[in-house]
Amino acid sequence: MFEEGQLYSPVTTGDDGEVTVQLAHDHPGANDPDYRQRRNAIAAAALAWDRGDPAPHIDYTDAEQEVWRTVWRELPPKIERLAVHEVNDAIAALGLPRDRIPGLDEVSARLAPLTGFRYVPAAGLVPLREFYGSLEHRVFHSTQYLRHPAVPLYTPEPDLIHEVIGHGHLLATPTFSDLHRRAGVAANRLREEDSLRFLSKVFWFSLEFGVVVEDEELRAYGAGILSSYGEIDVYPRAEIRPWDIGQMGTLDYDITRYQPVLFAAASFNRMVDDLTDFFESVGR
Ligand SMILES: [Fe+2]
Repeated sequence: MFEEGQLYSPVTTGDDGEVTVQLAHDHPGANDPDYRQRRNAIAAAALAWDRGDPAPHIDYTDAEQEVWRTVWRELPPKIERLAVHEVNDAIAALGLPRDRIPGLDEVSARLAPLTGFRYVPAAGLVPLREFYGSLEHRVFHSTQYLRHPAVPLYTPEPDLIHEVIGHGHLLATPTFSDLHRRAGVAANRLREEDSLRFLSKVFWFSLEFGVVVEDEELRAYGAGILSSYGEIDVYPRAEIRPWDIGQMGTLDYDITRYQPVLFAAASFNRMVDDLTDFFESVGR
């Protein structure tokens, strides 16, 4: 999940118990009543979920299934060419279905023997503390809706494709799953909101939008890039800055378009070591 409140369409519950997802006027689904109703129903299912229950079963429509299949047609050759090796290994290891949308519990079952991470449903924004803190316990909060079919290339909102195809493949790897967990341990140690904000930005510029030099090429590992088959084509044209945790933790970013600034670690090991050190030391 992306971590900034502004990324999410607010979810409200009326006095009559009616759940509404408040799509912005320029959201691609804003004038599509069927899409709006669908978003409301999926958000309501997450809100009605109780810890310990199976994740809500969503009976995905043909249009939603087609968005999933479209992404799977477009992404794999790009990931093979542009993503780090460990992510490519994870695609085979996780073995997500490509012809149908898996439920969150199926994703959890596939992750269980690999890293033990599991998915729980989220209607929309999960407070930073809860979202990061749960990573310590290998719990990942995930939305279940899909982006509007008019714009399958990219969504500023974290939809199921971002959560499952982007983060899921990171959570299936030994290295990135451990970095997610370490981010959670660190978040649970932080008392100051400013420190948590700093951590969330470092997370943004690494596990969401990180790139790294591997085999003398710039390769992607961030979930936001891996799940956006539009962005994955253009990220090499972003302004690539040298890896700098201090700058990553303070730079503001704009989520409404492809990321204009990315930070590249000089090597895979350098990225892992620096993030590990950061998560170990922050707040101490
Ligand atoms: Fe995310």
